[in-house]
Amino acid sequence: MDRATELSLLREVLELQEAGSFFLDDAQGRNAVANYCSPERFLRERDSIFRGLPQMVAHVSELSAENAFLRRDIGGLPVLLTHEGAGRYRAFLNVCRHRGTRLVDDARGCARRFTCPYHAWTWNNRGELTGVPHERDGFPEVDRKEFGLKQLACEERHGWIWVAADDTLADDLAGFLAGIGPDLDWIGSRDLHVVAETVSVRDVNWKILIEGGVESYHFKVAHRATIGPYFTDNLSTYQAFGSHLRSVLPRVSVQELATRPEESWQLRQHANLLYTIFPLSQLLVQQDHLIWVRFEPVNAARTRITLRTMAAEGTRSDTYWQRNHAITCATLTEDFVIGESIQSGLDTGANDQLTFGRFEGALHRFNRAVEQMIGLRETG
Ligand code: FES
Ligand SMILES: [Fe+2]
Repeated sequence: MDRATELSLLREVLELQEAGSFFLDDAQGRNAVANYCSPERFLRERDSIFRGLPQMVAHVSELSAENAFLRRDIGGLPVLLTHEGAGRYRAFLNVCRHRGTRLVDDARGCARRFTCPYHAWTWNNRGELTGVPHERDGFPEVDRKEFGLKQLACEERHGWIWVAADDTLADDLAGFLAGIGPDLDWIGSRDLHVVAETVSVRDVNWKILIEGGVESYHFKVAHRATIGPYFTDNLSTYQAFGSHLRSVLPRVSVQELATRPEESWQLRQHANLLYTIFPLSQLLVQQDHLIWVRFEPVNAARTRITLRTMAAEGTRSDTYWQRNHAITCATLTEDFVIGESIQSGLDTGANDQLTFGRFEGALHRFNRAVEQMIGLRETG
């Protein structure tokens, strides 16, 4: 983000506040309730979106050591990420090519080779088959070159590792990022590392969780006991970058800027930014750290959520970050509990559709992107 954009985003919220107005789309929006609970719809989303689009799946700091590896879930696919060294990252299906056992059980570690726990076929971290016990007698027809680990498209950009299960759509990662890359640099992505991490599983559709982050209409109500007092009622703006969104959530302190020279204005000092990196990541950017929320949809009504607090190395003590992370988890849990409440009422017949107000336009925009991606895949 350049300085002119930073100032214009602050000017925009100050003008809305001055006018006692909100950031409004032209019209209300809505989304059919079935889109949040239909198993058929979920499978279409899985195939077209979770497995069809590049995803932000890891940060380089999680794989910084030579021969580091990590396991991740991508649209229900078990994925093994490896770092050979010198910034060469790869992604493979974590499935043995002999009879299909999960190849690597550890969530993370360092290894040059991976040996299957069933019969000890072995691959190196480039995915090449290097060992087959009793190969000559048992597998005279096996060509090792054809039994490499199944590789997925994988690329490092802006400090993050992006993986696409369907490599026909992975050719143009820059196009997919749609201009949000400079913002990923502006938030200091490359200097980050994970200081705390929490995983939970919630009985809620993944889209309800994304929607919960991209409006401030609920702040003074649902978060009245936590962050509510620090934010102006229902004041937030958003901008779309392709399917991705940048939401600006100003804190009460933004009012102080009205009497200060623009040269001194700092967006991160007076607003949280929420980047929705379509489809399954959100980056909640605060003054000196960010929270990476990654959603892994399990089924239409269940989602695994990983919250990672990330900061530049050496900025604060571990104790500070643990406390900070606990506060973040408590606040976001308020959203997740509301999300589960919504999910539990979807099939009661009370609503055929959910309704988005003009100041909830980011929700409508997000759901349109979901529709487009499904449609694109079906017609493409
Ligand atoms: S299933 Fe992996 S070596 Fe046999
Ligand atoms: Fe919230």
